[in-house]
Amino acid sequence: MVVKIGVMDSGVGGLTVVEKLSCAIPDAQIIYYGDSGNCPYGNRSRTEIIQLAQKVIQFLQEKEITFICIACNTISTVIKELEKSCSIPLLSIVEPVAHYLATSLKPESIGVIATMDTIQSKVYPQMIHAENSEVHVVGQGSATLADLIERGEFNGDMINHEIEEEMTKLLAQTAMKEVVLGCTHYPIVLDHFEQCFPQITFINPAIYQAEAAKRQIHIIDSLKKNQLKPIIYTSGDVTTFEKIVTKLNISIQDQVKNK
Ligand code: DGL
Repeated sequence: MVVKIGVMDSGVGGLTVVEKLSCAIPDAQIIYYGDSGNCPYGNRSRTEIIQLAQKVIQFLQEKEITFICIACNTISTVIKELEKSCSIPLLSIVEPVAHYLATSLKPESIGVIATMDTIQSKVYPQMIHAENSEVHVVGQGSATLADLIERGEFNGDMINHEIEEEMTKLLAQTAMKEVVLGCTHYPIVLDHFEQCFPQITFINPAIYQAEAAKRQIHIIDSLKKNQLKPIIYTSGDVTTFEKIVTKLNISIQDQVKNK
């Protein structure tokens, strides 16, 4: 039996989750939807984010998936509202990394860089403090970084400039060794973060979401031992998707589809 996993994001960012998922669970069929036609979500109201996400969930549910990885921190901030009208499990990208930080890494202080919405929602401090109130959590929002990456401008100076500006504000808040890339678009330019701030260890929540997805599949042993390639849909332009699929070295089925 082939398990189908839906993966959704506002755009190309969730491909960083597809990258980790297809390594962690190569036998599952990943069906991805990136809502690039409506990206970025990160500066929108909660009501708008809920309405847009519900449409994507409906599209994925028609593909008969078993559960959905919300490969977007911004959408994960409204997961409780989305669960009310969804009949299959939704996996947050924030919860697994928050659990890792609170119970395994247990840093004195941790920084989170993310969209404005994710920082304002306080989802990271809330989830970490639910398990460990000793960790000092500070955050910094960027209104433009996800959008720059979405437009495929990840080789330009503008990306480095925005990373330097927002990371400097984050690091000024307190001393820290690790920073969470709290927007799934950001690991696409992990090389830029590491180049600008080599003293910091950057944490990619996709790794912990992929592990959570693997645990979700209780029937993993009965899966066919096939390597199934992800199927990628977007409501926007396919060009940036193709560029990032190549950059992340993801082997996909057919071409990126416009839907
Ligand atoms: N990739 C999304 C996230 O993880 C945000 C991008 C956007 O603003 O739409 O938050």
